[in-house]
Parts: sequence; C-alpha cells; structure tokens
Amino acid sequence: MGSPLRFDGRVVLVTGAGGGLGRSYALAFAERGASVVVNDLGGDIKGDGKSSSAADKVVEEIRAKGGKAVANYDSVEAGEKLVQTALDAFGRIDIVINNAGILRDRSFARISDADWDIIHRVHLRGSFLVTRAAWNHMKNQKFGRIIMTSSAAGIYGNFGQANYSAAKLGLVGLSNTLALEGVKYNILSNAIAPTAGSRLTQTVMPQDLLDALKPEYVTPLVLWLCHESCQENGSLFEVGAGWIGKLRWERTLGAIIRQQNHQMTPEAVRDEWEKICNFDNSTNPQTIGESTAKLYEVLSSVDTESGISMNPTSQLTSASGIDPSQAIGQKLPVSSYSYTHLQPILYALGVGMSTKDPDHLKFLYEGSDDFSCLPTFGVIMSQAALMSGGLASVPGLSIDFTRVLHGEQYLELYKPIPTSGDMRSEATVADILDKGSGALILLDAKTYSGNDLICYSQFSVFVVGAGGFGGKRSSPKAKPTADPPNRPPDAVASDVTTLDQAALYRLSGDWNPLHIDPSFAALGGFKRPILHGLCSFGFSARHVLKHFANNDVSKFKAIKVRFAKPVIPGQTLQTEMWKEGNRIYLQAKVKETGDIAIAGAYVDLTSAASTVESIDAQQGAGLQSDLVFHEISRRIKDVGGEMVKKVNAIFQWDITKDGKTAAQWTIDLKNGSGEVYPGKVRGRADTTFTLSDQDFMDLVLGKLNPQKAFFAGKLKVKGNIMLSQKLEVILKDYAKL
Ligand code: NAI
Repeated sequence: MGSPLRFDGRVVLVTGAGGGLGRSYALAFAERGASVVVNDLGGDIKGDGKSSSAADKVVEEIRAKGGKAVANYDSVEAGEKLVQTALDAFGRIDIVINNAGILRDRSFARISDADWDIIHRVHLRGSFLVTRAAWNHMKNQKFGRIIMTSSAAGIYGNFGQANYSAAKLGLVGLSNTLALEGVKYNILSNAIAPTAGSRLTQTVMPQDLLDALKPEYVTPLVLWLCHESCQENGSLFEVGAGWIGKLRWERTLGAIIRQQNHQMTPEAVRDEWEKICNFDNSTNPQTIGESTAKLYEVLSSVDTESGISMNPTSQLTSASGIDPSQAIGQKLPVSSYSYTHLQPILYALGVGMSTKDPDHLKFLYEGSDDFSCLPTFGVIMSQAALMSGGLASVPGLSIDFTRVLHGEQYLELYKPIPTSGDMRSEATVADILDKGSGALILLDAKTYSGNDLICYSQFSVFVVGAGGFGGKRSSPKAKPTADPPNRPPDAVASDVTTLDQAALYRLSGDWNPLHIDPSFAALGGFKRPILHGLCSFGFSARHVLKHFANNDVSKFKAIKVRFAKPVIPGQTLQTEMWKEGNRIYLQAKVKETGDIAIAGAYVDLTSAASTVESIDAQQGAGLQSDLVFHEISRRIKDVGGEMVKKVNAIFQWDITKDGKTAAQWTIDLKNGSGEVYPGKVRGRADTTFTLSDQDFMDLVLGKLNPQKAFFAGKLKVKGNIMLSQKLEVILKDYAKL
C-alpha cells in the first residue's frame, strides 16, 4: 500500500458544507491536514432563508478534532467573498469543491421563471463565480483542483427536474472546458454525479435507503481527485453506495449521407437511419478535435475531386456569400515586401535547414561565397499581398476565415530570388470554382523587383460551405497537379521537424494562431497546433534542390503541390522523388503515420544535375559500383571499429560515367565505428578518388592494378596519396561481391 493521501498545507473551499455531502468532504479534508473554508448559506432546501448555524456547526466539529477550519455564510453567488475568506484566513486557495445546491422540482410546464433562474444561479452561475474567483490564484501558484457537482438527473434526465438537470449538465460542460484551459497550469477539473442520503434526497428516498447511502461513500473519490498526485482531468464519475464508475461519450460509426454533386435529402437520412444509430464498431471521441476530425475526413472523402486539403490557410478569410461575377479579375491592393539577408536565413531555418549539414551553410550564412536564397522563399514575398487582409477588400468575396483551407500551391521563378531587396506583389482573383461543398478561389500573385518579374505564385484557397453558387467546376487557369510515376521512388530524403518548427516558420510572416496556439488549434479541430503547409512545402522543395540540382538555386524553375494532410511539429517528413527528364515528381509522407501530407506534386528544374546523391537515385542511374559500396557498407558495420583504428582516414569516391560524375560515395574510417554513405564527405576528405564506374569494377575484381591505373590516368587521386595504400585492404577484403 502506498502512503496515505495527505493535504497538509492545502487550503480547500467546500461550498454548501453545512450538511450532507459538503459536510462529509469538509471533515475528511480537515482530518487529512487541509485548512478548510466551510461555506454554507444556511437556507432551506428550496433556497429560501439563511443562517450561520449550519456552517458554524461543521467548523466546530472540525476544530474539536484538532483540524483547521473557518466558516463563511455567503451565497455562492458572491463567489469573490468565499475565496477572500480562504485568503484572509489561510493565505491561499488550492481546491474548490462546488457542492452547494437546492431544488425547485416541478413538472416542466409548471416551472416558473423564478424556479428556473434560482436553480441556475445557485448551481451553474454559483460554481462559475466561485471558481473564477479562485482561478488566477491557482494559475499563479501552478496548482489547482476543481470539482463540479453534476447529477444523474442531468446526465439521463429526470421527471420534474428540467431546471435542475439543465444546470447540472451545464456543470459538466463547464468542467470539461476548465480542464482544457487549466491543464497547463496544473489546474485540473472533474465532475461527479453523486448519490447520497441527505436532506435533498429525503423526500424522494425511503428512510432505510437514505441511511444506507452515506455521504462518506462519495467523499473518498472527491479527495483522490483533489490530491496533487492525481492527474485525472476533464472526467465525469458516477459515485454512490461505495461504487465509482467513469462515464464517456460513445459515437456510432455513422453514415455519410451526402454524395458528390447530389443534394442531401431527409429521405436519404431516413434510409440510412439504422446505420446512423448502430453502435457496432463505435468510437469514443474524447476531444473536440477528434469530433471534428470526422468532419474533415468526410469533406476530404466526398470532395476529393475538389482537392480539399486538411491544411487551413493563414489569414486568407472566407465567405458566407461569393459573387464570382464581381470578384473574378479583381486586383488586391499592391503590397510591398522589403528584406535584408535576415529573412532568407530565417526562412531557411524555418524549413529545417541546419548548420549540421555543411551543404546548408550557403543558405544560412550571409558570409558564404555563394550565399543564396531558397527558391520557395518566393511564396513568402507574394503572400504578403494576401496576409494584409487584401482578400477581404475584394468586392464579391465576403469570407469567413475559420472555414478556409489552403488547397494547393504553385510557384514559378523567373530569376533566382535576390538575398535582399524591395519587392512589390500584385495579386488578382484569377478564377472562382464551384466545388459544391465549397468555393475554390485561385489567386495569382506576381512579384517584381523594380520592373523585373521575379516570381509568379498561384494560391488555391478552398472555402468550405461557400459552394453551390452555380459556378463552373474547373478552370484552364488552374495549375494542375501531377501524379508520380508508378515505380518505387528514385530518391528518398527525410528530415525530422522540430517541436518548434511551426513557431520558427511563422516568424517568416505567417501569423495564423492555428500554428502556435493550442486553443485556437482545438477550435479548428486539431489536437495540437499543426505545421504550416507551406513549411512542409519548403522542406520538400529543398530536398529536391539538394538531390537533383546540387543546391544550385538557378536550376529551380517551378513547383506545384497539393496539401493532403496536416503535419504535426516533431514528425518526420519524408520526401519521395522520381526523376523524369527535368521534372522531379514528389510526394511527402509523415514517416510516423505513413500519411501523405503533400501529394500530386512536382518540381521543374531548368536541367537536372548529373550528380545525384542519394542511394536510390544512384541505383536509378544503374551504376555497378553502387552494389560494391553497399557491400562495403554492410561488411564495415561488422568490423568498423577495428578498421577505424587501422585506417584512420576518410575517402571520397567520385564515380564517373560517360565522362561525367554519376555518383559520389564516402567511406569514413575515421569517425565512430566507421560509415559508408552516398554523397560527398560531411566535412573534409583525406583522399578523393575519381574513376569511372567500369574501372572501379575492374579494380575491385582485381583486373586492374591501382598503381597502373593511376599512372595510366584512369584513377585520379587528390589529397593524401599515401593513404590510398590502406585502401587496398578495404577493396581486397570488404568489396568482394
Ligand atoms: P444538502 O442540501 O445536504 O447540501 C447542500 C448545501 O448547500 C446545504 O447545506 C445548503 O444550505 C447549501 N446551499 C444551498 N444554497 C446555497 C448557496 N446559495 N450558497 C451556499 N450554500 C448553499 O444536499 P446534498 O445532497 O449534500 O447535495 C450536495 C450537492 O450534491 C448538491 O449540489 C446536489 O445537487 C448534489 N447532488 C446530490 C445528490 C444526492 O443524492 N444527495 C444527487 C445528485 C446531486
């Protein structure tokens, strides 16, 4: 058995503690070391009258047993005064038990306004006022425990208690929200639906049941929920007679009634009624996020053709009314965007670049010889036109910001983006499509430096619920997505996003609280703030740039993506890439879940680099040497430590085909227990070898002598030539196929 649960040093306020359940709680808390405020108005069961004797008696009982207690005789409607009593007497408030209650039972038709109001004032409003008065104290001290007293009458309904059951279930809602708002301050809130013999139940229960259902059979649950070691939060319990059970919601799988391009009718609801109400394979949603996630799922399944994404945009507002005839062709106010080297660096960090990768330095250090701005920074410059509320000013577009999803993004560069500059963006509503379940707005933005057109972006913005205005379903102006070839990817790159990825990315100018504020994200139906779609877009684009363009920004021409699913900061983004000429098809997956976050995407390069750096890309190029390096890699894993001691050097291999570098490999026998990896050395090579794929094979197979190859000019060696002798060991012993 663990140690007894103590409340020494804690201050507890129990409302309505002059009798029944409240009295039992007060006595129990005091007995376990707490200082207790015994509140009771001392009126009758209907809430009439008042007296100090009820509270006084309980205080005396506690003190007689050596406990600490003070009385308070205010109504819970004077919430501040109750909390003030705790502060005056004991200097703090840790635990609030909202327990005070009265009854005004009447059949529904006979409930007067007064009967309704007083029940709500005492139970619901009283609990609100007392708890609010304690809230900031709890927040500041980073500790608080709250109990709301609900009732089975609220959960299930009860004849003659319409007023009471409404207020009692209201308390569950109140507790659920406090649980969400308080948790980060260690303020936890739970609701109980007790059953006990008391003066409230004496008219409805026979005497022997009243005697049997002791308040003391409820009290231990309340004490446990309020102990600092209990982390229960936002829950509801039924408790009585010594039994305790927890309640939760249950939801049927339900049925999707709506079909694309069809009206949703009550007849269809009738026809699916059995399915809607069937609890087979039911679920138990626990958060509003889980609840609304279902709606997003349905939207994306019914409206796949419309390209609905799960990725709400930034302040791109939406509509209750869209009038395409007015809105199409409208220009947004011209926006300007001035930046120094700071913004491109901040952006590069925002899309996951790191000094860990020496290749990234050219995007992170303004002193680098080839300091460059990532091509996808283009969207940052052009979105300035939309962010400043420009969209809201367009006639014929009155949209509700909470209903907007960022569907797709296209970006085309005409020049590499300068590392600093003064840009001007002109945005136009290019077209508006009616997708039934929503409207799809195509926004074109052109960004200029002086008279030079730097880039063109197309934002596809989906406004949920704003469809059905009789517009067209497709547009020649829309930049289409493209599906990847049907074969395994030629290259794969992955990066773990950090927990603060969205917090960092937003500093580039995308301030939507959805990406940082947990409560705002919850409103949107997400458990946690999600990553900006354009941040994942930045990750994928730089993966392509690295693998197929050697990070040469002048090779980047255009990118198109569709946002398919949200990404949570901390998840791993895995970009799969397929090369077809100068077009690199791609999709980005969340590695942990396998979900495709970016789909239908591609990057167009002016010319794809001849040097490819990923294993998969090299295999795509069909080099024989790849197999050998994989084999060396496998064998070195077994004996790496020993080899590192013997060789203590790093070798880079540049393998050529048709006179051009076709692959690079590094054999690191200097660090850790050795490693073989595709690509250039991360750091500095001791020796670099250049030779053709065929000569490499001949060397490995013993058909070509290294010295002869060197003197014949077939093998070029840079750096420490002496070290190459050690290499023979590796090739002889570890490269056997
Ligand atoms: P009770 O009548 O013995 O205790 C309620 C106490 O609240 C009384 O001492 C009363 O003077 C006090 N009170 C009433 N109005 C007040 C006000 N405005 N300000 C301060 N104090 C006030 O009744 P019981 O059974 O102990 O009820 C406690 C709570 O449990 C109530 O909220 C009740 O609705 C709830 N409950 C009780 C059930 C039961 O089986 N006893 C069933 C379901 C809920």
